[in-house]
Amino acid sequence: MKLSVQKKLFLFSFLLIVFLMAIYFYFANVKMRKDLRANSREFIESTEELFKVGLSNVMLHSNGKDVGGLLQIIAKNKNVETARILNETGRVDYSVKSEEEGENIVKVTNVDSAKIFPFVNREIVKKLSEAKYFVIEPLRNKAECQRCHKNKDINGYLQLDVNFSGSYSNAAKIYTSFLVAMAVILIAFAFLLHFIIRSLVTSPLEKITKGLKEIEKGHLDYRIPVERDDEIGVVNKHFNKMAEEILKSQKKIEELHFERLRQIDKLVTIGEMTSELAHEINNYSAILHSRIEFLIEKARRENLPEGYSRELESVLEQTVKMAAVTKDILKHSKSNPTPEVKINLKELLNSTAEIFKSVLKKKKINVVFKFAPEDLMVNGRSSELEQVFINLITNAIDAIKEEGEIIISARSLNGKKEVQIKDNGKGITEEDVAKIFLPFFTTKKIGKGSGLGLYIVKRLLQKNHASIECASKEGIGTVFTIIFEDYRGSSEQRQ
Ligand SMILES: Nc1ncnc2c1ncn2[C@@H]1O[C@H](COP(=O)(O)OP(=O)(O)OP(=O)(O)O)[C@@H](O)[C@H]1O
Ligand SMILES: [Mg+2]
Repeated sequence: MKLSVQKKLFLFSFLLIVFLMAIYFYFANVKMRKDLRANSREFIESTEELFKVGLSNVMLHSNGKDVGGLLQIIAKNKNVETARILNETGRVDYSVKSEEEGENIVKVTNVDSAKIFPFVNREIVKKLSEAKYFVIEPLRNKAECQRCHKNKDINGYLQLDVNFSGSYSNAAKIYTSFLVAMAVILIAFAFLLHFIIRSLVTSPLEKITKGLKEIEKGHLDYRIPVERDDEIGVVNKHFNKMAEEILKSQKKIEELHFERLRQIDKLVTIGEMTSELAHEINNYSAILHSRIEFLIEKARRENLPEGYSRELESVLEQTVKMAAVTKDILKHSKSNPTPEVKINLKELLNSTAEIFKSVLKKKKINVVFKFAPEDLMVNGRSSELEQVFINLITNAIDAIKEEGEIIISARSLNGKKEVQIKDNGKGITEEDVAKIFLPFFTTKKIGKGSGLGLYIVKRLLQKNHASIECASKEGIGTVFTIIFEDYRGSSEQRQ
């Protein structure tokens, strides 16, 4: 069975307390019994002494007539059950129960006679049970007694039946009520212990666990409330600091990633533009090359001055070099286009918008998706279409100063697929709308925009059998509409 830290602590502390209390009660009980035994002994001795003093007085002053009365006085004590005086044979001479007089002690009590007879010159205190004593004390023949009792050592025996059950049961009652009180205290202590462990250990641990789970789920803005100044408070503070650092790093990574995406886009386009340029120059240099060769041939045929041919050959040499440079560029820029695949537009739009999660949150921009219920499939290259959407969403975000809405919608339209990205940002002037797809057109600050975004978008859409249009109103917002042709791929793809 798996026990929580709280239960383990609780069980350990509780068992420790119970163990300590049991030890205390054990020794308290041992001591109480020892004290009771010592008190019983003292009581017996003092009663005997009292009787002996009383007996001397009775014998000397009333010649033994009041011995019975003296026994009655002794027996009045609640601990003394019976008091008797025996002779040396064990006959009861005096007893508080007059019917016993003349009988033998063995007959009137159930005491094992072998243990007490013959009476010797000593006191016998026999314990009959936990609280009952059978006592025999020799009554010695003192000097003042010898006037009547001659030549004897012992004149008789005082015999007492003493019962301390009352005192024992009182002590047991006190002991039991003490136990009950302790049990009540223990239960109260258990509740207190539970409460202390819960508030000092379990509840702070639960808060930290919850915090860790939230971070695990990606809720990096979750913080544990710091309510205490102790070690737990310090742990909570460090947790919050750690979450803060993770959040900062995540934002930094996202920003870098985002910036990287934009840079890659631009580098690819510049590469493409350069190779196009090289291709064109190559075409013209080929024409130039053949024309110059023709002129050199013509100069030779027409015997033109030597200087003409030399100059033309030098121009030809430069043309060859120029062609070598452009061919080199073309050789390095040959790319291996990725094949087209079926793309789920709704999924791609969703995952692309996800990239902007933290930027959107920071600028308080709400993204609304309005998608037709059916699957919207197009043929194309997913990485290129992702670049298109990244550029359009980036522009929409840039156009909203703070707080705004971007609506991303997708639907089927006459067999074609339509995607719209609409924002309520600053909009574009009528004059600028005509220029936005041109390379290097930007209204953004130097370093912020290169003006290649929409140029790239247009080219990529053409490659993916789609077109784009822009409608905008200054101060109201902008909407870009993309139409994907009903293109089903090449004949090989369809097979
Ligand atoms: N949604 C829009 N709202 C307002 N203006 C826009 C929007 N989209 C584009 N523009 C305008 O079109 C211009 C060209 O956009 P484009 O994406 O080609 O370049 P850019 O955003 O300026 O720079 P970058 O090369 O970094 O994308 C922008 O500078 C901006 O003036
Ligand atoms: Mg842009």
